[in-house]
Amino acid sequence: MYREFAGKRREWTHHLHLRYGPIVRIAPNEVSFASREAVKEIYTSGGSGFDKARFYTLFENFDLPDAEDLKMMKELSYSSSLRKQYFQHYYPRLAKVLDKIASLRGRRAVGLTPRYVLDTARDAAVSPHTVLHKLRTYEPEGSDYKAAASECMDHLVAGIDTTGDGLCFLMHQLSLPASQHVQERLHAELAANSAASLDDLPYLDAVVKEGLRIFSPIPMSFPRVVPAGGKVVDGVWLPGGTIVSCQPHTLHRLDESVFPLPEEFRPERWLQEEGAAERNQLFFAFSAGGRGCIGKK
Ligand code: HEM
Repeated sequence: MYREFAGKRREWTHHLHLRYGPIVRIAPNEVSFASREAVKEIYTSGGSGFDKARFYTLFENFDLPDAEDLKMMKELSYSSSLRKQYFQHYYPRLAKVLDKIASLRGRRAVGLTPRYVLDTARDAAVSPHTVLHKLRTYEPEGSDYKAAASECMDHLVAGIDTTGDGLCFLMHQLSLPASQHVQERLHAELAANSAASLDDLPYLDAVVKEGLRIFSPIPMSFPRVVPAGGKVVDGVWLPGGTIVSCQPHTLHRLDESVFPLPEEFRPERWLQEEGAAERNQLFFAFSAGGRGCIGKK
């Protein structure tokens, strides 16, 4: 819990894997895995019943108020709201008391962004290409606007920070002198195929994939719960209720026979036929299976 508050969970889990291998018990009721067998069992095996863990209630939206503009941008860019949400998750009563005290002292208990989304979902005229417009079209008569607001908030959190962070890291990497050859090859591919669909450019694909491998926008564990009756994960039997997870940061590095020199940015690795299946099985930036990313394509 301390590591979560301190923003060190991913790093700490990774070091435990480096030290002890692909299966590590990280808490009395929690095991972290770093193998394709585990990914398959936990995330993709049809109907295996590994539900998302309670951790995901952190992303439930709206029991909140407030507003403004530059502040909202700062909040989106530099906020420590996940830490705050951890606190609410682990100490819900204490968090409520502290929020009350904060509001009595005239301080905002919660974010500007949720407030903006709520107000927009309730009142604003929106253009037809927006998600909100589509949701309104299909909303049953008299239904609560909060359902549409919550959906918009989910897309905002899930789709914007991730894409923005991923591109930001990749642009930084490409701007380094060491990446000059990558820039040149990328430029040549784009120039030679200016009419082609971006989906049909293998080097571009390799660059983006390598960016997502080395700088996964969500690098940490995606926790799931072992269903009642227990399950075997990567050869280990675990009782129902145990929290299990894999994290991209470790899956993308630990097995150096699949990802040699894992800390190096090498898009070319994705172009080699040999080992392609193994690399793709360990590529976990979008998670995997039915609860993986819907914005992947
Ligand atoms: C580089 C960009 C992105 C990355 C790295 C990313 C990553 C992820 C990951 C890792 C998960 C699953 C977490 C888990 O298994 O627990 C996820 C879920 C999700 N993503 Fe993305 N995502 C990206 C872009 C997007 C975009 C553009 C959208 C919206 C259009 C989106 C919408 C969602 C939604 C709604 C879920 C939840 C799915 C569910 O709970 O079943 N993502 N994303």
